[in-house]
Amino acid sequence: MRAYADNDYPADHKPDWKVIAGLWPYLTEFRGRVFLALSLLVLAKLATVATPIALKYIVDYLDQNRSADLVLWIPVVLVVAYGSLRFASTLFSELRDAVFARVAERAMRRVSLRVFRHLHQRELAFHLDRKTGGLARDIERGTNGISFLLRFTLFNIVPTLLEILLVAGILLVVFNVTYVLAILVAVVVYVVFSIRVTEWRTRFVREANARDNQSNSRAVDSLLNYETVKYFNNENYEAQLYDRDLEEWEQARLKNRLSLATLNGGQALIIGLALIVIMAMAVREVATGTITLGDFTMINAYLIQLFIPLNALGFVYREIRQALVNVERLFKLLGDRPAIVDKPDAPSLAVAKGEVRFEHVCFGYRADRPILRDVDFSIPAGHTVAVVGASGAGKSTLARLLFRFFDVDSGSIRIDGQDIRDVTQDSLRAAIGVVPQDTVLFNDTLYRNLAYGRPEATEAEVYRAARMAHLEGFIHSLPEGYDTRVGERGLKLSGGEKQRVAIARVILKNPPLLILDEATSSLDSLSERAILGALQEVSRQRTTLVIAHRLSTIRDADSILVMDAGRLVESGHHSDLLALGGHYARLWHQQHQDQAPE
Ligand SMILES: Nc1ncnc2c1ncn2[C@@H]1O[C@H](COP(=O)(O)OP(=O)(O)O)[C@@H](O)[C@H]1O
Ligand SMILES: [Mg+2]
Repeated sequence: MRAYADNDYPADHKPDWKVIAGLWPYLTEFRGRVFLALSLLVLAKLATVATPIALKYIVDYLDQNRSADLVLWIPVVLVVAYGSLRFASTLFSELRDAVFARVAERAMRRVSLRVFRHLHQRELAFHLDRKTGGLARDIERGTNGISFLLRFTLFNIVPTLLEILLVAGILLVVFNVTYVLAILVAVVVYVVFSIRVTEWRTRFVREANARDNQSNSRAVDSLLNYETVKYFNNENYEAQLYDRDLEEWEQARLKNRLSLATLNGGQALIIGLALIVIMAMAVREVATGTITLGDFTMINAYLIQLFIPLNALGFVYREIRQALVNVERLFKLLGDRPAIVDKPDAPSLAVAKGEVRFEHVCFGYRADRPILRDVDFSIPAGHTVAVVGASGAGKSTLARLLFRFFDVDSGSIRIDGQDIRDVTQDSLRAAIGVVPQDTVLFNDTLYRNLAYGRPEATEAEVYRAARMAHLEGFIHSLPEGYDTRVGERGLKLSGGEKQRVAIARVILKNPPLLILDEATSSLDSLSERAILGALQEVSRQRTTLVIAHRLSTIRDADSILVMDAGRLVESGHHSDLLALGGHYARLWHQQHQDQAPE
């Protein structure tokens, strides 16, 4: 299956401001730091607002003492104060960021870990459906969004408001209410314009994001299918598909840029007009002598200073909205309840003898396509039951149900009488060892992959397991031995080698129940025979469900179940089933055409 477009970014999705409340716990973790950061913020703003006042006194002093009786040290002191205030405002801002960084980073760490745990908690079906590329980006965007929201609401919106209030207060005291009103009108017009235009262009931004996701998903999926692409010489086809996505992405980005230019241009126009009007007012009053030259300089400094943080308002507003949407998605991802959960107060599975029972199990991955129909059998404790049947008959599905990757639709699965839905998944899975049909390895060394069966195992135990799985010869033939890296998903090993790694892992895990899903299907008959001995040894005394591909490998099983299209059609010993002359006999003869029938 291909991971196609990630179109679930609804263009008209309104951000949910309540998401901010969900961030509160991350702030309260570091009360002291948050308080310190806020104090530094106030100090920085006080310094910022005081700077133009120093400037005013310098200008006024120079203006009024133009003659020879100028005392030079006074303006020098004022200049020093002016410079120091500027420096202090930056210093306090930087300190504030440094103090707060820890809070934001810790929040990102906490959330990333929560998401990671949650994803492991989700059921297999979720992971089979997901689009890894898109999901990874959602997580990245969401965690970045949290950091952004924490930093910007607290350190952009709040301080800007604070500064506007302080400036308005000073202007009211020093000048008169018309200046305050003029500035407020300019700010309001500016803010309303920025928000409106930002809202208008949000859909272009979303569109660009969605296209970004889509082309990324496509690229990741295509590269994951590298070998398949090569088998069919489809490099050009893949490139065309990718380029079509990129073209859409390009278009979306272009609209995004144009709308950004509109926003910035409009903002600059409003600032320019406000400067003209207010400075003209001030010029007139300087001319009439109502205010000093220093006052004039001060008001100019305030205007420019005030619009600097507002300049970023469109960006901040949009980013905050975007961050809200991203964080909401992340929280929603976190809020989704896994389909398979432990019952409240579920006890651990207690394996006494290890009897497994499937009782009238019906199951389908989708409601409209039943896979297992009324499957009923049991594996007596310590016995080995083999399941055979055509590919797609539902054999692996039995294993997935026993491991509780899915829950049965009706009927039940019991281990020593306990319904597996009533016990914890942890204890259930701890009791079952699986050699899966397709083994995927971690992109790590062979040793680590082997030891994964029981990370706390000693080296000697790992070596022993490798020996039992007949891996030693292979490993010794490798120049780097156990330290060989196996490549992404273990692609540098052959199918048979991977299967043997899987067998060694299970040997290390040493569970009371065992599922071997075509555990030797990728081995040639010679290695198969060698390893079967090992597997038989492992499965002795353990309740074992063997899913077999080659019938010769399960001749000695205590009982053989034959599956056809989701039903158990025959069961019994090898010789009984042969004598029956049904499905099993047919399969057997198919596989042994060249050999003389027994
Ligand atoms: N996750 C899934 N979603 C939907 N259908 C599935 C899924 N996994 C397997 N199937 C289908 O269920 C049927 C039985 O699969 P499986 O038990 O793996 O067969 P096998 O007997 O070869 O091991 C197959 O037709 C397969 O297409
Ligand atoms: Mg299978």
